Amino acid sequence: MSEVTVRDATPADVDALVDMLVEVAGEGRWIGTEAPVDTERRRRMAADVEASDVVLLVAEAGGEPVGQLGLEMARYGVAELGMLVAAGWRGRGVGTALLAEAVRRARAAGAHKIALQVWPHNAAAIALYERFGFQREGHLRRHYRRRSGELWDAVVMGLPLD
Ligand SMILES: CC(C)(COP(=O)(O)OP(=O)(O)OC[C@H]1O[C@@H](n2cnc3c(N)ncnc32)[C@H](O)[C@@H]1OP(=O)(O)O)[C@@H](O)C(=O)NCCC(=O)NCCS
Repeated sequence: MSEVTVRDATPADVDALVDMLVEVAGEGRWIGTEAPVDTERRRRMAADVEASDVVLLVAEAGGEPVGQLGLEMARYGVAELGMLVAAGWRGRGVGTALLAEAVRRARAAGAHKIALQVWPHNAAAIALYERFGFQREGHLRRHYRRRSGELWDAVVMGLPLD
């Protein structure tokens, strides 16, 4: 496989990152964002890549973006994490490379913890997070209403950094 590199996103990455989000949202199973994605709003949010309380990382292979990870630093010291890898690139170490860099970046920013939520059926994501030492801290029952009307549970996970 091509070597995967991880770097900070720049405003020039925004369109490609939003396209990737649209693709993964379209799968309908893995992330909180659902189709149809409000792409204009997402572009404005992603354009905020230089905000001091946000880290947006992009994983590249062969010069193409293949994954992304966002950390939002809360004032109370917790870094909220969200990530995704393009479907054709999963299971090839991209998520590992992104998460390793995210842990370094959260520590460097002085966060005492990384927090996230994941669907209980997302075995790949839960296995990846547990491999990095994330623990299951709670379970939200029938918490998120999907556009279908279904109410989905979510697992709350955390990685203490202190
Ligand atoms: C979850 C996700 C980010 C993982 O990224 P990835 O690039 O596939 O992960 P990696 O290839 O680095 O895999 C790392 C570890 O994750 C776990 N893993 C990955 N895919 C897996 C699968 N299909 N089943 C079980 N475990 C899996 C394994 O522990 C693996 O370690 P190993 O290769 O030593 O077995 C990716 O599958 C993805 O983007 N999915 C759709 C979006 C999503 O679910 N985002 C997270 C929302 S909370």
